[in-house]
Amino acid sequence: MSSAELSLSVPSALELPRPSGRGLMGFLGSLWSHDMAMDLGTANTLVYVRNRGIILNEPSVVAVDEESGKAVAVGNAAKRMFGKTSRAVRCIRPMKDGVIADFDMTSLMIDFMLRQARRSRSVHKPRIVIGVPSGITQVEKRAVIDAALASGVREVMLVEEPMAAALGADLPVEKPVGNMVVDIGGGTTEVAIISLNGTLYSHSIRVAGDEMDEAIQREVKRHFGLQIGIFEAERIKLVIGSALPFGKARSITSCGRELATGMPHQIEISDELVREALNEPISAIISSVVTALEQTSAEVAHDIIARGVYLAGGGALLKGLSERLNRETGIQFHRAKDPLSCVVRGVGKIVDNLKEMRVLCIS
Ligand SMILES: Nc1ncnc2c1ncn2[C@@H]1O[C@H](COP(=O)(O)OP(=O)(O)OP(=O)(O)O)[C@@H](O)[C@H]1O
Ligand SMILES: [Mg+2]
Repeated sequence: MSSAELSLSVPSALELPRPSGRGLMGFLGSLWSHDMAMDLGTANTLVYVRNRGIILNEPSVVAVDEESGKAVAVGNAAKRMFGKTSRAVRCIRPMKDGVIADFDMTSLMIDFMLRQARRSRSVHKPRIVIGVPSGITQVEKRAVIDAALASGVREVMLVEEPMAAALGADLPVEKPVGNMVVDIGGGTTEVAIISLNGTLYSHSIRVAGDEMDEAIQREVKRHFGLQIGIFEAERIKLVIGSALPFGKARSITSCGRELATGMPHQIEISDELVREALNEPISAIISSVVTALEQTSAEVAHDIIARGVYLAGGGALLKGLSERLNRETGIQFHRAKDPLSCVVRGVGKIVDNLKEMRVLCIS
């Protein structure tokens, strides 16, 4: 099966955002210029195409045929297969902790997603700007660049995710003010302070949404003697997960395999149990925020107190997290608009204004 035959839900042309306020010339320009922005995330990969908007938003999952080594499905279609495939097909999340863990599978995923994004509008080979975690090694950068080049782009530029998140949150990164962002993704939480188009402070920890899911898995195992799948743990987090107690107690029905008998079993999990499980990863995230605050100069501290801190990434959607951060630090935390697309929107701004903004790229 060729990669073009794989199933992936991409919005049709009718659903695509219209090029706003650019008129006919802007639209004609988009036929020639289809430079791209990509947020290659541990949990989700998003692609933005210049003048078209975000045209792809899919889980970073690949289902591969073990014998041929070829992909059977990518994105949502592959995520739906997770844990349900025969031995002949393996589902892989090729990104781990924000970086490429399986080069071949990541290349395959990028290749497939970029081909979908380019589709019939391919006139020239595009340039691409990709968001990467701050502090990634040269080898890790090389792997991202090689994977993108292999899919036929003509130039690859990288931008650190916190810078992209700050741009996506519409923060004035070019001004002499301390802009603090916390991007809580699937694999990493990145804390950064940005001013005058540069990063004053950045630190990345490998604790984020995935770690929360694993903590729920462990707690269910410890409390009920039940093994649940990782995406089931994520579902529990999305439905009843919270960083603080809120009003009426809630619960959710879940299923797994009882360790003692090996039999499928159904349980009722309380929001309190989930909160207990989430406490460790949340405390690690709060500690990294506190460390950043402790290391800022008096001038920057003044800006942060006045302007607050911006939260991006899917983890920012956890119920009660901004309130808890607020309570534990005494500083105001604001959730960026649509935290899950904040990074790709920021990278998209660079692509839209590449001439002036490529100075923000790190390669
Ligand atoms: N409503 C929600 N409550 C809690 N967590 C959520 C919610 N929605 C999404 N998430 C979590 O956000 C994470 C994905 O966020 P995001 O897409 O920003 O990560 P990523 O960019 O792929 O990862 P990384 O930046 O670490 O490489 C997942 O762990 C997901 O479970
Ligand atoms: Mg991310």
